[in-house]
Amino acid sequence: MNQTPPQRAGRFITVEGIDGAGKTTHVQAVEDAWRSAGRDVVRTREPGGTPLAERLRDMVLHEPMDALTESLLVFAARRDHLHTVIEPALARGAWVLCDRFTDATFAYQGGGRGFDMTVLSQLEAWVQQGRQPDLTLLFDLPPVVAAERLRQARQPDRFEAQDGHFFERVRQAYLQRMAEQPHRFALIDAQQSPDQVREAVLQTLTARGLL
Ligand code: TYD
Repeated sequence: MNQTPPQRAGRFITVEGIDGAGKTTHVQAVEDAWRSAGRDVVRTREPGGTPLAERLRDMVLHEPMDALTESLLVFAARRDHLHTVIEPALARGAWVLCDRFTDATFAYQGGGRGFDMTVLSQLEAWVQQGRQPDLTLLFDLPPVVAAERLRQARQPDRFEAQDGHFFERVRQAYLQRMAEQPHRFALIDAQQSPDQVREAVLQTLTARGLL
């Protein structure tokens, strides 16, 4: 009797940190390493990752709104992204690399804006139906260092324009999330040189069988 082999589940890795942590450079390094290893890679980001979610991203980053509206829009974007991109990719066995996910909502809307995290947990349960990343790389560094990097970079969006106190709250909320779900997180010291950070990222993935 012919048996269909069990479908190999994909992997879901997210990358987080305050603005200016330098994560985007290292997301590229992970993507390159996975592609060299012949993986089916889906690289994406939040808010965004679908045409609809990218439109919502543009609103969230540029239009004034309160924290509840912001939270609903990022979760609406996430629902579309999960439903049309992430879940189908995982189902076919792809390795999904997502630049920010729900931890950013707890950090920015919850920590930064002070929005009720119980409501965020309810939205999370509703939208994600239990889906969580297999691993979250948290790029951590003091906000003053991140701000100096950003200052040299570009025109700030609504979040990048916030002050150091905002980013200290965002950082603490990320660390709190990590303390609540330690099995899922790896902390990366983002204050090191780019080469050292890259090495730390690749070592973390290797140690977890993700390279
Ligand atoms: P970012 O990921 O830093 O992209 P870029 O490198 O292009 O600037 O920007 C996304 C911004 O959106 C960032 O400031 C954090 C914010 N954000 C939230 O406030 N809530 C969320 O749920 C997510 C995913 C992001």
